[in-house]
Amino acid sequence: MTKTLKRYRLPLIWLLLSGGLAAYLYYLFYEAADKTALLPGRTTDAHHQIEMECAACHTDEKLENVFTSAGVTNEACNACHKEDLANFSDSHPVRKFKNPENAVFLQHIDALNCITCHSEHNAKITGKMAVSVPSDYCAHCHDVTLRTVESHKDLAFDTCSTAGCHNYHDNISLEPSYLLRHFGESKMLLDPHLPPAKDKVPCPDPWSSTSSQHCASCHDTEMSDFKKGKHGMRLAFKNLSPMTPDKARIPMKNSASHAAMDCRACHQPEKKTDPLFASQNACYQCHDDEHTRNFQSSPHFTRNTGVTCATCHMPAEDREGQLVINHDNTANLRPNEKMIKNVCTDCHGLQFAMDSMTSPSLLKSNFSSAPTGTHPGIKWAVDAKIKRGGDDAKRLQEILEALQGN
Ligand code: HEC
Ligand code: HEC
Ligand code: HEC
Ligand code: HEC
Ligand code: HEC
Ligand code: HEC
Ligand code: HEC
Ligand code: HEC
Ligand code: HEC
Repeated sequence: MTKTLKRYRLPLIWLLLSGGLAAYLYYLFYEAADKTALLPGRTTDAHHQIEMECAACHTDEKLENVFTSAGVTNEACNACHKEDLANFSDSHPVRKFKNPENAVFLQHIDALNCITCHSEHNAKITGKMAVSVPSDYCAHCHDVTLRTVESHKDLAFDTCSTAGCHNYHDNISLEPSYLLRHFGESKMLLDPHLPPAKDKVPCPDPWSSTSSQHCASCHDTEMSDFKKGKHGMRLAFKNLSPMTPDKARIPMKNSASHAAMDCRACHQPEKKTDPLFASQNACYQCHDDEHTRNFQSSPHFTRNTGVTCATCHMPAEDREGQLVINHDNTANLRPNEKMIKNVCTDCHGLQFAMDSMTSPSLLKSNFSSAPTGTHPGIKWAVDAKIKRGGDDAKRLQEILEALQGN
C-alpha cells in the first residue's frame, strides 16, 4: 500500500495542485467579486482607482478574450471619454481615419483603436497620461512636416508633443489662429476677464448626511462632474467606496489616510465659517506633495491675488449663462494647456502662461517666480503668417516692431 502511494505521490500532488488551481481560476473568473489577482500587471495611474471593475473595460465577456485581445473595445473607452474628446474637438478622431483617403496613414500605426496607444496593466511601456506608444510616434504620419515647414526642420519627432507644442487630441490652445490672436500680450492683462463672483446662497441642508448621493439629489451637476475626475471617479460604481488617501499614488498626509473623498471632504458643517476651507484649506488636510506645500509661499498666495487651489483645479465656468464650479478636479490638469486657456489667460498674457506651464521647476514651486525660458510656438506662428502676407500679417508685423522697439 505505502509502496503504491509512494509511486504515485508525485502525480497525485500534481493532480491535487492543478485541480486546486483550476478550481481557484474558475472561482476567480466566475464567482469572486475581487478579480484583481488576475491582473497581468500594474494598472495605469489613470485608472488604478477603478481597476477592480474589470467589466468597465473588458466588455466582451468571452473567456478566451481575456488572454488575447482582452475584449477591450473603443465603445468601452468612449462610454466614459467620448463626451470630453468631442468637447474640445479632437484633432485626430477615429472618424478621420475611417475616411478612405486617410487609409494610407494606418499602414504603420492602427489609429482606429484606442488601445493601440493606450494599453493597460503594462507599466514597462506606459508613459504619462496612460500613453503606451513611444513619444516619436507622430513620425508614422507626419514625416513630410519636418521636411516642409521652415521652423521645424531641425526638430526631432519626440519633441512634437513633449515640448508643449502639439497634442494628439486637444489642440484648442495650440492652434495657430489662437496663438496669433494672443500675440504680443504682456505678463499681466490690463483687463483681466475674471468670472463674476457668484452670490452665495446658503445651502438649506445642514450637511449632516455623509452620503454623496444625498447631496446629489439637489446638486446633480456637481455630482456628475465630480464622478468624471480623480476625486469622485469611484462613485460612478455602486460597489466602490469613496476614494481615500491611503489608496493614492501621489504623496498624501498620513493623518488623512482614511478621510473619505465625498462631498463633505470639502463642505464640512463645522467649517462653514472658513471662506477658504473648500477652495484651499481642505486640500491641505490630504495633499502633501511639493507643489501643494509651496503654494503658500508663492506670489499667488502672498500677494493676495485671490488665486486659490480651486481657482486652477476647480475653476468656475460659464455654462449657458449659469456659473458652475467644475467639480471634475482633473478636467484641465493634463495636458496642462487646457488650464492655460480656461484659467491662466483670465489674468496673464498667453506667452507668459505658456512659458510658465512648460517649466517643470515652476510647476513644482507652484509658480513662485517668473519663468526664464521663452516658448517659441507663438513666434513661429507669427513668422509664418508674416511670410505668407495678408491682412493679419500687417497687424502682427506692427506688434512685432513695437516689441522689438522696447
Ligand atoms: C480602465 C480599463 C480596464 C480595466 C478597469 C481593466 N482592464 Fe484589463 N486591460 C485593459 C486594456 C486596455 C488592456 C490591453 C488590451 C490590449 O492591448 O490588447 C487590458 C488587458 C488585460 C489582460 C490581457 C493582457 C495581455 O497580455 O493580453 C488581462 C488578463 C486583463 N486585462 C485583466 C484584467 C482584470 C482581471 C481586470 C479587473 C481586475 C482588468 N483587466 C481591469 C483595460 C482595463
Ligand atoms: C495614435 C495614438 C492614440 C490613439 C489611437 C488614441 N489616443 Fe488618446 N492620447 C494619445 C496621446 C499621445 C495622449 C496624450 C495627450 C495628447 O497628446 O493629446 C492621449 C491622451 C488621451 C486622454 C487624456 C487627455 C485628454 O486630452 O483628455 C484621453 C481621455 C484619451 N487619450 C482617450 C482616448 C480614447 C477614448 C481613444 C480612442 C477613441 C484614444 N484616446 C485614442 C494618443 C492616442
Ligand atoms: C468607467 C469609466 C472609464 C472607462 C471605461 C475608461 N476610462 Fe479612462 N479615465 C476615466 C477617469 C475617471 C479618468 C481620470 C480622470 C482624468 O485623469 O481626467 C481616466 C483617465 C484616462 C486617461 C488619462 C488622463 C490623464 O489625465 O492622465 C486616459 C488616456 C484614458 N483614461 C483613456 C482611456 C481608454 C483608452 C479607455 C479604454 C481602454 C478608458 N480610458 C476607459 C474613466 C474611464
Ligand atoms: C495615424 C496617423 C497620424 C498620427 C499618428 C498623427 N497624426 Fe496628426 N494628422 C493626421 C491626419 C490624417 C491629419 C489631417 C491632415 C489634413 O487634414 O490635412 C492630421 C492633422 C494634424 C495637425 C493639424 C490639424 C489639427 O486639426 O490640429 C496637427 C498639428 C497634427 N496632426 C499633429 C500631430 C502630432 C503632433 C502627432 C503626434 C503627437 C500626430 N499629429 C500624430 C494623421 C496622424
Ligand atoms: C434639499 C435640497 C438640497 C440638499 C439635500 C443639499 N443642498 Fe446644497 N444647496 C441647495 C440649494 C437650494 C442651495 C442654494 C442655491 C445653489 O447655490 O444651488 C444650495 C447651496 C449649496 C452650496 C453653496 C452655498 C454654501 O453654503 O456654500 C454648497 C457648497 C452646497 N449646497 C453643498 C451641499 C452638500 C455638500 C450637500 C450634502 C451634504 C447638500 N448641499 C445638500 C439645496 C440642497
Ligand atoms: C479627503 C482628502 C482630499 C482632499 C480634501 C482633497 N484631495 Fe485631491 N486627491 C485626493 C486623492 C485621494 C486623490 C487621488 C490620488 C490618486 O489617485 O493617486 C486626489 C487627487 C487630486 C488631483 C489629481 C492628481 C493627479 O495627479 O491626477 C488634484 C489636482 C487634486 N487632488 C487637487 C485637490 C484640490 C485642489 C483640493 C482642494 C480644493 C483637494 N484635492 C482636496 C485626496 C484629497
Ligand atoms: C475638493 C473639494 C470639494 C469637493 C470634494 C466638493 N466640493 Fe463643492 N465646492 C468646492 C469649491 C472650492 C467650491 C466653490 C467655492 C466655495 O464654495 O467655497 C464649491 C462649490 C459648491 C457649490 C456651489 C457652487 C456651484 O457649483 O454652483 C455646490 C452646490 C457644491 N460645491 C456641491 C458639492 C457637492 C454636491 C459635492 C459632492 C458631489 C461637492 N460639492 C464636493 C469644493 C469641493
Ligand atoms: C496657478 C495654478 C495652480 C494653483 C494655484 C495650484 N495648482 Fe496644483 N497644479 C497646477 C498645474 C499646472 C499642475 C501640473 C499639471 C501637469 O502635470 O502638467 C498641478 C498639479 C497638481 C497636483 C498633481 C501633482 C502630481 O504629482 O501629480 C496636485 C495634487 C495639485 N496640483 C494640488 C494643488 C493644491 C492642493 C493646490 C493648493 C494648495 C494647488 N494645486 C494650487 C496648477 C495649480
Ligand atoms: C486671478 C488672476 C490670476 C490667475 C487666474 C493666475 N494668475 Fe498668476 N499671478 C497673478 C498675479 C496678480 C500675480 C502677481 C504678479 C506680480 O506681483 O508681479 C501672479 C503671479 C504669477 C507668477 C509669478 C510671477 C513672478 O514674477 O514672480 C507666475 C509664474 C504665474 N502667476 C503663473 C500663472 C499660471 C501659469 C497660471 C495658470 C495656471 C496663473 N498664473 C493664474 C494673477 C493670476
